[in-house]
Amino acid sequence: MTTQYAEVLTAPEPLVGRNVVVVGGASGFGLGVAHAAAEAGARVSVISRAEDSVERALDRLPAGVEGHVISALDRPGLDAVFGRIGQVHHVAYTAADAPVTGPITTLPVDEVRRAFETRYFGALTVIGAVAPHLDPGGSITLTSGAAGVRPRATSGVLAGVCGAMEALARALAMELSPIRVNVVRPGFTRTGMWADLDEATREAMFRQTAETNLVGHVGEAAEVARAYIYCMTQTYATGSIIAVDGGYALV
Ligand SMILES: NC(=O)c1ccc[n+]([C@@H]2O[C@H](COP(=O)([O-])OP(=O)(O)OC[C@H]3O[C@@H](n4cnc5c(N)ncnc54)[C@H](OP(=O)(O)O)[C@@H]3O)[C@@H](O)[C@H]2O)c1
Repeated sequence: MTTQYAEVLTAPEPLVGRNVVVVGGASGFGLGVAHAAAEAGARVSVISRAEDSVERALDRLPAGVEGHVISALDRPGLDAVFGRIGQVHHVAYTAADAPVTGPITTLPVDEVRRAFETRYFGALTVIGAVAPHLDPGGSITLTSGAAGVRPRATSGVLAGVCGAMEALARALAMELSPIRVNVVRPGFTRTGMWADLDEATREAMFRQTAETNLVGHVGEAAEVARAYIYCMTQTYATGSIIAVDGGYALV
């Protein structure tokens, strides 16, 4: 028993030399995951859609991280990238467009479809492309959000996307076993996702989050990134959802 605990708790450097792919890794949680995985000794590849985003990210990331300018929806492009990377140990999927908000009853259906495009269909496309390359001891970590369990009046569409991501992960955990598939469910976090809001609105939203959640501050990308690293290095969790929301879902 003692030996087992020692092995599990002190498993030495589980990411050293592992190929870690972060889709959406040019900003926010993905950038945090790429940084943490690279510092833990992984060979990290960042995939993102915009060339300038990838260049900016590579400037900020440790030397050796590779960048690929490609959309999560571009299957032939992904096939080529994964063919070059070879065996993949862990994938974190954080790619997303700006959130679609508004009342479900009046939002045009095309807007609702757009909300699923990168987050859900992008994830499906990436998983299809990477599946033949995944190490059986490896993992996929997807992203949902606290809106899935505590929607506001105008975040119903987001709630649907988040619920879909969590259901997808459970189904994939079955289909891809023994590869582990988990989900990180973040709450409000200071990332590039809110860059399109004007500064006053954004800061007011963050202030309100800090005042109402249980930890008294709005999340930072690094705090959420830790959960993805946990999902990669944890060896027994699959089909699981890790909530990292400052208690948002409870209050
Ligand atoms: N931040 C929060 O408060 C929060 C809360 C709950 C849930 N979440 C969820 O967490 C996930 C990540 O959020 P984040 O805050 O890290 O967002 P972020 O900072 O906006 O990063 C998302 C990244 O996805 C990339 N991307 C967009 N479309 C892509 C595509 N088709 N292919 C490849 N890359 C693409 C963007 O890169 P380019 O610049 O290259 O387009 C961007 O770098 C999202 O699903 C979001 O809904 C976030």
